[in-house]
Amino acid sequence: MSDSYPMPTEDQVNIDPYSLPLAEINVANPYLFAHDVHGKWFRRLRDEAPVHYCVDSFFGPYWSVTRYDDIMTVDTSHAVFSSEPVITIREPFEDFPLPMFIAMDPPKHDEQRKVVAPVVGPENLKNFESIIRERTADVLEHLPLGESFNWVERVSIELTTRMLATLFDFPFEERSKLTYWSDVATAVPGLGLIESEDERKQVMLECLEYFTGLWNERVNRPGGNDLVSMLAHGEATKNMGPVEYLGNLILLIVGGNDTTRNTMTASVLSLANNPDQFEKLVADPSLIPSMVAETIRWQTPLAHMRRTAKVDTELGGQQIRAGDKVVMWYVSGNRDERVFERPDDFIIDRPNVRKHLAFGFGIHRCMGNRLAELQLKILWEEILKRFERIELAGDVQRSVSVFVHGYTGLPVIAHPRRP
Ligand code: HEM
Repeated sequence: MSDSYPMPTEDQVNIDPYSLPLAEINVANPYLFAHDVHGKWFRRLRDEAPVHYCVDSFFGPYWSVTRYDDIMTVDTSHAVFSSEPVITIREPFEDFPLPMFIAMDPPKHDEQRKVVAPVVGPENLKNFESIIRERTADVLEHLPLGESFNWVERVSIELTTRMLATLFDFPFEERSKLTYWSDVATAVPGLGLIESEDERKQVMLECLEYFTGLWNERVNRPGGNDLVSMLAHGEATKNMGPVEYLGNLILLIVGGNDTTRNTMTASVLSLANNPDQFEKLVADPSLIPSMVAETIRWQTPLAHMRRTAKVDTELGGQQIRAGDKVVMWYVSGNRDERVFERPDDFIIDRPNVRKHLAFGFGIHRCMGNRLAELQLKILWEEILKRFERIELAGDVQRSVSVFVHGYTGLPVIAHPRRP
């Protein structure tokens, strides 16, 4: 992050991107996403400068990669585009860098990922299915009927937090701590939740202290299918220092939390806004998995991943130098008209629905994608059993972030099925 540039402001929201010279385009403004006006900025880049250099920004200079095919090239070329030292456009916290395997290159990345991958392996997923269904039913059964409530809080956050508690075998009654740590880890200081990097550090250290207690309980106990036991016993992770333990915890907390949460909210929002698609789903519930994939494409819960060029290279006719920051905007690749017909429309049975980039590609492809899809599928199976429709009851509130592409509020009214 550059100290010499002020915080991005809301003014840019009212600017027509086509009125600016290409060189002045800077898409890394969280307010563009909060106001849902980023789409036209990315369309201009895709059409006119698909590999685009922004010289000055709050986050320093960076390349934007906005077309599907170029994103795929970067994501699958880890020897050229490194995930170190960090995978977001923000620089690592200077006095408190958190190592985590998503921000490592081979061989260390591969070794650590292998330790925790079984938590979402086929066997665990099979066991999770009934737990997820039970909890989903419980949350839906307790919703107020015929009156407005915030879907984000009552359903999306509640369900993803319960899932996280299961993955970590975290004390269930204290599970709201997980949501809080996840939110603090990704918050921008000064925009609500925290005021400074120092405050973030304090909260992160509380998180470490809590999880150190869980590690100590489990390190001498054999086995354990939960993430803490896996990290404490795994060959590649058992000797990690505390800060690396914290880094990997944050990865696993944030990875499984915001993303699935925002997809759950997006599914309600997009089906309510597209009644023809909702009718299609009700008429043929076997379309649920396809609808889930379309929601993940349409929402793209993580707007970008960042890489750093290891060597001088060429991409889309542009010369990228070793050390340059390269941002893959998944949120743009998933709306690339060269790959998706009518990309801004929500079409639950589009033929190439699973082709989206929202889980990334290559060696860092999302580890929890099957779990996220399973949670979403069960949610909609259970919703269709109980509710005739979920109606929007106010304005949606969106996250102010260039990374987490999601929602803080969605007022709705749930209408039960008539007997
Ligand atoms: C709709 C939900 C989700 C979305 C959109 C999503 C998206 C992503 C993306 C874009 C990446 C980076 C891919 C890349 O760099 O190529 C990633 C990595 C990762 N995700 Fe997810 N994710 C979701 C759910 C989950 C869940 C439920 C978990 C929990 C287990 C999870 C855990 C991870 C982990 C551990 C990584 C790092 C993988 C690595 O570096 O090898 N994700 N995810």
